Amino acid sequence: MAPEFGTRFGDYQNEIYLNGLGGVLPTMPMTFAELEARAQSALAPSVLSYVAGGAGDESTQRANVAAFDRWGLVPRMMVGAKERDLSVDLFGMQLPSPLFMAPVGVIGLCAQDGHGDLATARAAARTGVPMIASTLTVDPLEQVAAESGDTPGFFQLYTPTDRALAESLVHRAETAGYKGIVVTLDTWITGWRPRDLAASNFPQLRGHCLANYTSDPVFRARLAKAPEEDPQAAVLEWIGIFGNPLTWNDLPWLRSLTDLPILLKGLCHPEDVRRARDGGIDGIYCSNHGGRQANGGLPALDALPAVVEAAAGLPVLFDSGVRSGADVIKALALGATAVGVGRPYVYGLALEGTDGIVHVLRSLLAEADLIMAVDGYPTLADLRAEGALLRI
Ligand SMILES: Cc1cc2nc3c(=O)[nH]c(=O)nc-3n(C[C@H](O)[C@H](O)[C@H](O)COP(=O)(O)O)c2cc1C
Repeated sequence: MAPEFGTRFGDYQNEIYLNGLGGVLPTMPMTFAELEARAQSALAPSVLSYVAGGAGDESTQRANVAAFDRWGLVPRMMVGAKERDLSVDLFGMQLPSPLFMAPVGVIGLCAQDGHGDLATARAAARTGVPMIASTLTVDPLEQVAAESGDTPGFFQLYTPTDRALAESLVHRAETAGYKGIVVTLDTWITGWRPRDLAASNFPQLRGHCLANYTSDPVFRARLAKAPEEDPQAAVLEWIGIFGNPLTWNDLPWLRSLTDLPILLKGLCHPEDVRRARDGGIDGIYCSNHGGRQANGGLPALDALPAVVEAAAGLPVLFDSGVRSGADVIKALALGATAVGVGRPYVYGLALEGTDGIVHVLRSLLAEADLIMAVDGYPTLADLRAEGALLRI
């Protein structure tokens, strides 16, 4: 199904200018800086520090963003790029654009009504931009999937130590209609996060965003009392099974869980990409978790070219530091098949719910589309051609 707003993404600016003629100005910010600033007052302090913060002194988080400034697209003239095609084929699915929403575990808490997972799925339905639903949600994965309309969704798995529970989560995701499983590898243990430590705040330990566990028959069978009767015991049980430090020896088991495409999230080294590929993984997800897990690392963007090369034709999803349509273009030009955005859509949600996310996604796509128009790159293949993107 075509997204509600069509695929002429740049037309969003006409809509905004025409509304202005009628005296109607945008209620949502038009830059990331303003989006972030306004979201600060919309989110509860504990949620804000969890969302905005990162690992250590957050230098990797900042480096993720700054890395984009070291690349520039070379304008091409007389191309007549009147029509642009941003569509991508991902595992045989035709997506209207290469944008997706990265999994965000506390997104449920970031909506004013406390059901941000559902609001995000509705934004996916309206825009055609897929949502990767986290394991850590306020509402169970089945209810999230039901709000996604015709837009394909993906389920992100934090692999628990209980293999039967992992299998149950994956099979529930299959039954609910998710089109792929994203296995996140970099978060079997929480990185050192000073902002959260200073507030001694970790939402899941307070019982938040555990609906996929408390609704799971395998998890429930581990408890002496139902989680509704003894929520504290459920949290303690969750702490005990959450993080599984997987090794390459676990890959055949992971692969055996499903026939759906499996992507590994957190891969930044070409050797890891080759091992994933050799182990039958369908897609690579290059990311450093937005700098939230390990400080002192390379910006994820700098890892992308070698990851793309090692992937040797497997789809490569990318996130970490994407803040604008120009950033989306640069990641695509460096070989990403699809580009994910994290914090920006969280802030959109905090400000205006589903409409806020829709605005953030449409703005990213409009800017990307207009850059392709102005700079003469009508297709994504043109962007990836030799000499399109140069190091500054
Ligand atoms: C508040 C928050 C929660 C997150 N939760 C998850 C999660 O549950 N699973 C996961 O794989 N990644 C999670 N991530 C990482 C994102 O998927 C993504 O890698 C990151 O946000 C991209 O960086 P950006 O925020 O700079 O765009 C989370 C990120 C944020 C900001």
